[in-house]
Amino acid sequence: MASIKIENVQKAFGKVVAVDHLNLEIKDGEFFTFLGPSGCGKTTTLRMIAGFYYPTKGVVRFGDKDMTRVPPEKRNTGMVFQNYALFPHMTVFENIAFGLKVRKIASNELKARVQEVLRKVRLEKYADRQVSQLSGGQQQRVALARALVIEPEILLLDEPLSNLDAKLRDEMRSEILRLQKEYKITTIYVTHDQAEALSMSDRIAVFNFGVCHQVGTPSEIYNEPANDFVASFIGEINLLPVIVDQVEGNRVTVSAGENQYVVHNNPFNFNREHQDGELALSIRPESIRILAEKADRPNVFQGKVEDVQFFGTIILVRVRVNGLLLDVNLLNHVSANLKPGADVWVELPEDQIRLIPVLSGDAS
Ligand SMILES: Nc1ncnc2c1ncn2[C@@H]1O[C@H](COP(=O)(O)OP(=O)(O)OP(=O)(O)O)[C@@H](O)[C@H]1O
Ligand SMILES: [Mg+2]
Repeated sequence: MASIKIENVQKAFGKVVAVDHLNLEIKDGEFFTFLGPSGCGKTTTLRMIAGFYYPTKGVVRFGDKDMTRVPPEKRNTGMVFQNYALFPHMTVFENIAFGLKVRKIASNELKARVQEVLRKVRLEKYADRQVSQLSGGQQQRVALARALVIEPEILLLDEPLSNLDAKLRDEMRSEILRLQKEYKITTIYVTHDQAEALSMSDRIAVFNFGVCHQVGTPSEIYNEPANDFVASFIGEINLLPVIVDQVEGNRVTVSAGENQYVVHNNPFNFNREHQDGELALSIRPESIRILAEKADRPNVFQGKVEDVQFFGTIILVRVRVNGLLLDVNLLNHVSANLKPGADVWVELPEDQIRLIPVLSGDAS
């Protein structure tokens, strides 16, 4: 079994609490991503799973087995470090063979396994090359091969693509996914790149300041963010502080500035105790519509175009509505030649709005 359980884990370095109250369950064979800004505790958590750090509190299990204080060489995990940590004066072959030598694998088997994994990462021709004479992308693949060759049950990848250019990063993303599916390894992938997390993962955990704010599939994280930190860290979003005016079943009326909005099917179970400033209306820029004329539906307001920016696939239109500025993303072909100064009607469809809690300033 290669499922992972992290139970109420904390890691403190002196007075710095790098990770706190962490509870996660990663399923066998899952591609699971830790996402969050620099310093939020991603590497620290990965190192506790690999055994390079022991938690200050809490338990780490593989399957049902308690691994909390088992040293790294006794865990069947392969890790690609944030800076690769290759041995520069060794060849590609020697780098990859290193873990097998440590495990005292016989030389025939060792050769066969290194050749096999070299083929998998498409580096057969480079076996005798010194690592210092490889490109960044090739080094990245050596690091991956070195982690895979020991046939780990768990693969831990710490920002493995951060040093690569955009095109190579795209290629390596597909390569990593291909290898992960082929080997069926439970994989934890660390990144602060939201596009990478959304496109690669089965599930994502979003961290900030050592705390995990939400765990979910990419669409859950994007469409149903747990709070304003998750909402604004992943993708673009309009967040308007609101006061609740009325609740009738799952139909809620709220006020933001001078406007009243109707919100539907709200998954966040807020209660009337929430004080002003603790709730926000959130809507993605691609969910707002620009209408040619007034429509007799809720959440349609008159506004003025303030700014138009061309990004190729999309056009960002900023519309001022009663003093509030809304970002609207339109697909290029529906831009309808909007110009700053134009009078428009905007619609925030009821089913596209979410009410979410606003964290206090120091947590977001
Ligand atoms: N060995 C250590 N000693 C003291 N503090 C540490 C140590 N390692 C990490 N920290 C602190 O713990 C916090 C989390 O660090 P961590 O390396 O886990 O962040 P990260 O999410 O991986 O960030 P990045 O995206 O920059 O790699 C940071 O505040 C960091 O300064
Ligand atoms: Mg890190």
